[in-house]
Amino acid sequence: MPNLTIVGTQWGDEGKGKVVDYLARTAQLVVRFQGGPNAGHTVRVGDRQTILHQVPSGILTPGVRCVIGCGCVVDPHALGEETAALARMKLRARSRLTVDARAHLILPFHRQLDLLAEKHSRSPIGTTGRGIGPAYADKVGRVGIRAADLLPGREERFREKLKRNLAAANVKLMERYRAEPISFKKLAEDYWRATRELARMVGDGSRVITDALAEGKPVLFEGAQGVHLDIDFGTYPYVTGSSTGVWGVGPGTGVSPLWLEQAVGVAKAYSTRVGLGPFPTELEGEEGERLRKLGGEFGATTGRPRRCGWFDAGVVRASVRLNRLNALVITKLDVLDSFEEIRIGTGYRCGRQRLDEFDPTRADELEPVYETFAGWHETTGACRKLRELPMRARRYLRRLEELCGCPVALASVGSERRQVVEVKKEALRWLKSG
Ligand code: IMP
Repeated sequence: MPNLTIVGTQWGDEGKGKVVDYLARTAQLVVRFQGGPNAGHTVRVGDRQTILHQVPSGILTPGVRCVIGCGCVVDPHALGEETAALARMKLRARSRLTVDARAHLILPFHRQLDLLAEKHSRSPIGTTGRGIGPAYADKVGRVGIRAADLLPGREERFREKLKRNLAAANVKLMERYRAEPISFKKLAEDYWRATRELARMVGDGSRVITDALAEGKPVLFEGAQGVHLDIDFGTYPYVTGSSTGVWGVGPGTGVSPLWLEQAVGVAKAYSTRVGLGPFPTELEGEEGERLRKLGGEFGATTGRPRRCGWFDAGVVRASVRLNRLNALVITKLDVLDSFEEIRIGTGYRCGRQRLDEFDPTRADELEPVYETFAGWHETTGACRKLRELPMRARRYLRRLEELCGCPVALASVGSERRQVVEVKKEALRWLKSG
């Protein structure tokens, strides 16, 4: 059976949650390999909308097992809220979810330090304020506290580590930010109590996944954020703290990259970005506002309005190459239904050079080059087959394929689970086996 990795090809918020939910129907295991509660995967099933932050979207499909891999950073409070919300939907997460023992924990002071660093910085990043950066910083600083530290019988050792880390955090809080220090006793007690549910889900995620792969079970790896927010290949320093591309699966799960078979990239039919950083095709005026309104472009995690702009083929093309994508899924095509004119950024002028791929190390020098299309002026939400799409919408998709150098397997035309058009199903073995 095949396995499939799903990544965002832009700056996150491409609609990966819905795509994973759609593709998870044929999965037996769905795995998150990076990020934490900074992600917000919005999934609508019937008239119910759920926003998942840390739990893999596969949890919405009964019978599917899920793993939060060792490359993730886990906030026990946020995870508890999520599993409680799932329980209200009659979905039992605990028995189907494994949190890898090696995953690092987000502690309350990570959030505080994240928010204060942003507030006091002369060049803020526009983080989600969820403590992601500081938690990953502790991980690579080799002082992080991991899910394994929460297991029964380890409370004393956990308290020692927490005391050491809190002392360092309090120095920063007081000296750098002139903020109140955090009291150890209350923090240690509250946190330990809040982690009891999580402690029951801690296990060897790497083992669970490799066993499933060896047994030939279909496994889906669910990326969060997007390739251009990757710690190495993104628009550094305006990036998140983890590896958001296919290359993140290995260290983020404990699975050899030699297991990986196919990868699909999710791209919105236009572009959005939250937070600061380069965005060549951004629309600042009325058109941007129109996209924001029609697309409901407000952050699933923070509620912040997203910056909006035209599809930037150079950005997606770079993701296709970096991840060796087999196919693309284009989301929110219906948002463009009413536009008279639609533009695509086809590449860039960079001084006297012409580039067809986004280069984040020269982002300031890039001037986008556009192609203009006449809009289709028809609603697409009810389309399910390629031939049902308006001719101009089909032409738009074909042009995206050409410019990005990758076939489009599916196009999403609404937030409902069923609102998907099969464009080139055959590009993904995963779909053929479904
Ligand atoms: P952090 O991940 O909270 O440290 O934020 C770093 C950057 O990544 C900021 O620009 C955030 O807005 C962005 N970011 C983080 N998570 C997401 C996401 O799930 N969708 C879109 N942007 C995100």
